[in-house]
Amino acid sequence: MCGIVGYAGKQSAAPIIIDGLRRLEYRGYDSAGIAVHDGRGIEVVRALGKLRALSDALAARPLGGSLGIGHTRWATHGRPSEENAHPHVAGQVAVVHNGIIENHAALRRQLAADGVRFASDTDTEIIAHLVDRALKSAPSLFEAVRAALAQVTGAYAIAVLSKAEPGTMVAARHGSPLVIGYGDGELLCGSDISALLQHTRDMVFLEDGDVAELKAPAGGAPAARIHTVTGGAVERPVKRIDWSPTMAERGGFKHFMLKEIHEQPDAIAATLRGRLDLEGGDVHAGEIGVSAETARAIRRVYLVACGTSYHAALIGRYWIEALARVPVVVELGSELANRAAVFFEDDLVVAVSQSGETFDTLAAVKAAKAQGARVLAVANVLDSAIPRLAHGSLYTRAGPEIGVASTKCFTAQLAALYLLAVYLGRRRGALDDARGRELLEALCAVPGHIHSLLGDADYVRGVATKLVDAKDVLFLGRGYNYPIALEGALKLKEISYAHAEGYAAGEMKHGPIALIDAELPVVCIAPKDASYDKTLGNVNEVRARDGVVIALATRGDEAMHDLAQHIVWLPDAPETVLPLLTVVPLQLLAYYVAARKGHDVDQPRNLAKTVTVE
Ligand code: M6R
Repeated sequence: MCGIVGYAGKQSAAPIIIDGLRRLEYRGYDSAGIAVHDGRGIEVVRALGKLRALSDALAARPLGGSLGIGHTRWATHGRPSEENAHPHVAGQVAVVHNGIIENHAALRRQLAADGVRFASDTDTEIIAHLVDRALKSAPSLFEAVRAALAQVTGAYAIAVLSKAEPGTMVAARHGSPLVIGYGDGELLCGSDISALLQHTRDMVFLEDGDVAELKAPAGGAPAARIHTVTGGAVERPVKRIDWSPTMAERGGFKHFMLKEIHEQPDAIAATLRGRLDLEGGDVHAGEIGVSAETARAIRRVYLVACGTSYHAALIGRYWIEALARVPVVVELGSELANRAAVFFEDDLVVAVSQSGETFDTLAAVKAAKAQGARVLAVANVLDSAIPRLAHGSLYTRAGPEIGVASTKCFTAQLAALYLLAVYLGRRRGALDDARGRELLEALCAVPGHIHSLLGDADYVRGVATKLVDAKDVLFLGRGYNYPIALEGALKLKEISYAHAEGYAAGEMKHGPIALIDAELPVVCIAPKDASYDKTLGNVNEVRARDGVVIALATRGDEAMHDLAQHIVWLPDAPETVLPLLTVVPLQLLAYYVAARKGHDVDQPRNLAKTVTVE
């Protein structure tokens, strides 16, 4: 949560920082600010609300200078307000920060006792004061930041400027992401790759405990050095990123979410690329670090995730149990943190996370690793915290996902988990090559099926008009379709703000049937699969109580045609790949309801895309 951008070079810093913040706004958007060193001193402009408000403030008060830092905020300490917006200034120093300083209360008391007066309620301001104080005896901003950070505990990514050093920015990370970009005559830092891609593809991912000094002196070549907080210099490899800047643009779509829904065929194809042995019915996945011997020795797979990624994990359980014949547990990262969870050395713990940064999922990974379990990350963001910590990674290759509501990363996660299930199944002897081939061929056909589902987007838009005024919507499904019901409900609630609930269809009689009347739309996920007859029974029960049924059904299903008021037709695809298809109309449905309500689809209220706090 919160996005940071820093620039040190020859160009005017403010427009570059604002452009970078625009690409990070998904991380938080309740206030924003910028500090620029103009050669004489540091000027700060901050504004409450989205980045647009900051841009307007800058139009009225432009900042000149080629060194600067900026921030877009998701409030943790102190309500959203201009005073609490970053950068925070103390004496000579300006700081932007993402994360939480855990010992902020003790440090605040200490500083207050020494006469420091605070201008905000944030934990960040404490860092600014600590650096400013350290500057009085430290030889440079770099050393002052290191001295200050030695006193704080918690998670941070920071960028710092000092009035006394007009060509220097210092950046540091511990537990929150920070990337350094090496441009042409310029150095940048940012919370993620997408903020820097317009300027460079050569990036260094700072490690926890790293402090970087980025110098771009007037008339001189830029130079960077990295030390640890308490130790000496460290070398970090420069990585060439293969994402293009246009991948993080809307490309003619009204919202990123709609673009990302349409990118799903490509995201899945990219996730499969180079990993399939179609002839042998097998999966190549050396990067997961699970040998054939280890695969056979696994006694339990433990999937852990939050939000949409948790729903992907729930579907992963069906596949891994069915195809690899190994018991699977699925757990919410946020719940796991509340238990003394037990892991074994022969567990394979799979952490599923688009961002690779989610606090609770990361905490679960740490707990599992500490108990000796093998950890595999299924993540989209390269080199993010979870894959760094895991023993192996199976990256989804969905490209940058900007919309807060996750869509293409969900289906890419499903593709990756399907691959994992086949990989384990082959090595554990649960699948022969013919079945492996059949499963992988079905997966290869998925991008084509999604293309045809997207061709019906206009029909879904029409159905969405029926849900615009609904206060409550129920989503029902059985088996693989149950997590899809949960995901359909989550998508609808997070962007349309309607109350939506996903339910296992078999549980309907145990409670939710009491809700059904002519006012309640019920979305039934009912393709022709093994549980179809039972789900059809539920649809009958809903209709018998005047409920409004919106069905997802296999093309040609006449029984459903006669029952449901609205039908979105699904292709007649093998049952195992259905979750990759059924979710698509539900994403579109949520999108069109929210867009019709005029909501800010890509930045729904109160949410942030990357949840790096507990
Ligand atoms: O980055 P992660 O996949 O770990 O994020 C998990 C959830 O925060 C995320 O899926 C969230 O639920 C999305 N807003 C769903 O659209």
